[in-house]
Amino acid sequence: MAESRERGRSIDLRDFFSAAEARTDRWRQMSAVARAWESSVTRGKPDEASRDEAAKLLGEVAILEDYWAYPGTRLMTTVRDALKEGNAAVFARVVQKISNALLTGSYRHETAAWDPLEEGEGRVLDVLPPEVQQGNGQKPYFEALVVTPNDPRGWERARNDLRRLRRPEDQFVYELVQVGSFEDGAIGAIFNTNVQAVVLYDGFEFRSRHDLPVMRDFLLRHLRVDPNSVAPGSLATTLARAIKGFRPELDIYLLTDRAVEHLAGSDEAAPIRRIFHAVEELMEVHLSILDGVSERYDAPYFANLKKYAQRPIGTFHALPIARGKSVFRSNWIRDMGHFYGTNIFLAESSATTGGLDSLLEPTGNIKKANELTARAFGAKRAFFGTNGTSTSNKIVVQAICKPGDIVIVDRNCHKSHHYGLVLSGAQPYYVEAYPLTQYSMYGAVPLRTIKKALLDCKAEGKLDRVKVVDLTNCTFDGHMYNTRRVMEECLAIKPDLIFLWDEAWFGFARFNPFHRRRTAMGAAAALTARYRDPAYKQEYAAFAAKAGSLDPKNDKLLDMHLIPDPDKVRIRVYQTNSTHKSMSALRQGSMMLVWDEDFHHVEGTFEEAFFTHTSTSPNLQIIASLDIARRQMELEGYELTMRMTELALKIRREVNSHPLISKYFHVATAEEMVPAEFRASGIKDYGPPNSSWKDVLEAWDNDEFALDPTRLTVICGAAGFDGTQFKGLLAERFDIQINKTSRNSILVQTNINNTRSDAAHLIRVLAELSREIEKNLAEKGKAEQEAFAARTKSLMTDVPDLPNFSRFHDVFRDNPKGVSNEGHMRPAFFMAYDEANCEFVKLASKDIDSRLKNGPEMVSANFVIPYPPGFPIMVPGQVITEETITFMRKLDVKEIHGYNAGKGLELLKPEALAEHRPRATGR
Ligand SMILES: Cc1ncc(COP(=O)(O)O)c(C=O)c1O
Repeated sequence: MAESRERGRSIDLRDFFSAAEARTDRWRQMSAVARAWESSVTRGKPDEASRDEAAKLLGEVAILEDYWAYPGTRLMTTVRDALKEGNAAVFARVVQKISNALLTGSYRHETAAWDPLEEGEGRVLDVLPPEVQQGNGQKPYFEALVVTPNDPRGWERARNDLRRLRRPEDQFVYELVQVGSFEDGAIGAIFNTNVQAVVLYDGFEFRSRHDLPVMRDFLLRHLRVDPNSVAPGSLATTLARAIKGFRPELDIYLLTDRAVEHLAGSDEAAPIRRIFHAVEELMEVHLSILDGVSERYDAPYFANLKKYAQRPIGTFHALPIARGKSVFRSNWIRDMGHFYGTNIFLAESSATTGGLDSLLEPTGNIKKANELTARAFGAKRAFFGTNGTSTSNKIVVQAICKPGDIVIVDRNCHKSHHYGLVLSGAQPYYVEAYPLTQYSMYGAVPLRTIKKALLDCKAEGKLDRVKVVDLTNCTFDGHMYNTRRVMEECLAIKPDLIFLWDEAWFGFARFNPFHRRRTAMGAAAALTARYRDPAYKQEYAAFAAKAGSLDPKNDKLLDMHLIPDPDKVRIRVYQTNSTHKSMSALRQGSMMLVWDEDFHHVEGTFEEAFFTHTSTSPNLQIIASLDIARRQMELEGYELTMRMTELALKIRREVNSHPLISKYFHVATAEEMVPAEFRASGIKDYGPPNSSWKDVLEAWDNDEFALDPTRLTVICGAAGFDGTQFKGLLAERFDIQINKTSRNSILVQTNINNTRSDAAHLIRVLAELSREIEKNLAEKGKAEQEAFAARTKSLMTDVPDLPNFSRFHDVFRDNPKGVSNEGHMRPAFFMAYDEANCEFVKLASKDIDSRLKNGPEMVSANFVIPYPPGFPIMVPGQVITEETITFMRKLDVKEIHGYNAGKGLELLKPEALAEHRPRATGR
């Protein structure tokens, strides 16, 4: 189905996510067609239709092949010649060879894959020194893109010259891809995911020799390059900037005969790693290319841990498991050793000597690994967390808040933030995300709501106490904030606000230009550049003249795009991410990223918070895996994240357009997950035929919220399954694991680990279940059909309203009459430590209804967090309202943290509340 539909489409360069994948598909299809052609020739009845089809497919891939080193000129010429000469046997053999090599990646290490004449396994591209052995014993392979004004007839010679420079001690092996223009250089960097370095020879032209109007439009809009305004002399530096904007991890080199000494010091050259005078040695360029990649490959902590594991060390510290002797010598637990292998024990230690460094006071390779992480993720500072983002959030909250500070926080955020606030004594000002009642889930917090909270605090004279805005980006269900816009407008109201963006799910987002535009660090960089631009001063002056002093009573401010004073604004952004959730880190591996212009004021408290929450026995393997995850993302994050996005788009398209599956299952679209008021672009769904990529990028740039397509809310209520039931069924019958559910949906996430086979498996399962439902309904008659209709109606239509945060009880508020809702949660939390202060009421009891009607008010003694949806529907000190009770009574989930059905709801007694005397702010 998908195959035939895709076959009908030619490779569309607008389809950034799938063009590279479509290329491999075309080679595979061409191989099948070539075999059919060859066998028709062997039978003596040459099939011209197969030959024409092969020619068409070759024409389609040929556009892209100029941008990849493999298959390269020799193989392509052989294929073209064989087709022209009607030599079906050679055509089929070589096309199959290319197709296999692309599929298996064998071209990365086998010379035979590059040779039209050689068959089968060949010599490896180079021999690997032991210290850089990869698992398969090969040197890592990459491609270097060269943009050059030189005559293409000399390119082959240049490639051979470079191959001659290879030395056995080189860490990596690479091939060159040469192109001749600015446009081709940009396209090569976008499409060829093997490219790790770009070498620009000054003097190339702008236009590609291919006619690519779509790419032209893309370059203009998204790399912000206008061909009419680029001075010929600055083509190379403009291209360098454009490529860096798209793939910041790439190393860019410039060879020029301009005055290099002058150029090297200019802003123009900032994106360039090294500038060479054009006549300089090729060897220097070669070594620099290897050196650049080596800097990203370097994983200092992991490398040292490997070295440590090889040393014969006698341990007399705690941790008997270190070196594995207590395991391998045991009569009873030897299977543990066999299961895990030796290295995990050899690499264990509770010492911080031997170059292992200390996570708590890093001065060596952990410090270096932190620095590399900051560079890779576009932050100023980075810290590793070894107890999940649950702890990273508490560290950051404690580092930036003190008792009495007000934190504007999404009530729907992960519980670690709420607990962090209890511990730090800061007061939460809860703001509500918009509800998606039909799916029993929340979206994200509208900017208007956040601005209103800030302006209300300003009106009540407590803006100075508002320290932090704390939001989840993207949410579990994939709502991505417009991080730039949110920070810009909040900073206009309070220019030194700190932002904590919980990007637990979104760490990967740094590594492709599409997601990156919606990240905390991406926004911090963009805003810093914007406010430094002299033109911004004028923009602000015009704004200030119009908006005046931002009177909080002026409701118009809520709908106006506010911008901050460049002389006052500070960029203070913190991000936490669960590296283990989206990258190759071991469970609990987490990172804290910092872009804070005033970090020198926070450094001490950050360290205290780090000490408060970090184990003095951190897990060495988690630290090493964070180091490695960073290496991977810097080298192949672009390819992996583009591929996972493409896979998600494929699943979306296939499920929603499949005639049978779509009767019972549906993947919620951008239109369904983001209400129209937050989606100014009007975009409904991603990719053709619903929208062009131009529309999508514009929506991602400007809409208030956008949907991360890699998070797929699969609605299963119409198939008669509630989320929990469907999750269980997928796991038990089909070995498909997911973790989040709602009343009528499950969340399917694609990540860098998923393959097309995984996608195919999921789609096959949905098709099988749809068939079963059809059969069941057809065979079991009317009664079954009515029962099914009633069940789907209950799941899809009779959904409970989601309760908003009500308010803190008056005794926990400084000004019960005020509109700002912040409260003292910590004293409420600790009041419950004294059992005498608490009482229990059963959810079903009439007492509850009577108290709701006649009082006294019921006040929660603790957090009550049902899974799903996973947000606290009660927090300590919160007044319980009818909406909350109705929601709890309708809730049909088994796991509710903080609630024991046998005992009932835990409340603070009215007498205890009456005795609680508010003390000074900051209790
Ligand atoms: C938004 C959010 N933040 C933080 C966390 C906690 O992360 P970790 O599992 O790494 O402790 C989660 C976990 O699901 C989450 O969804």
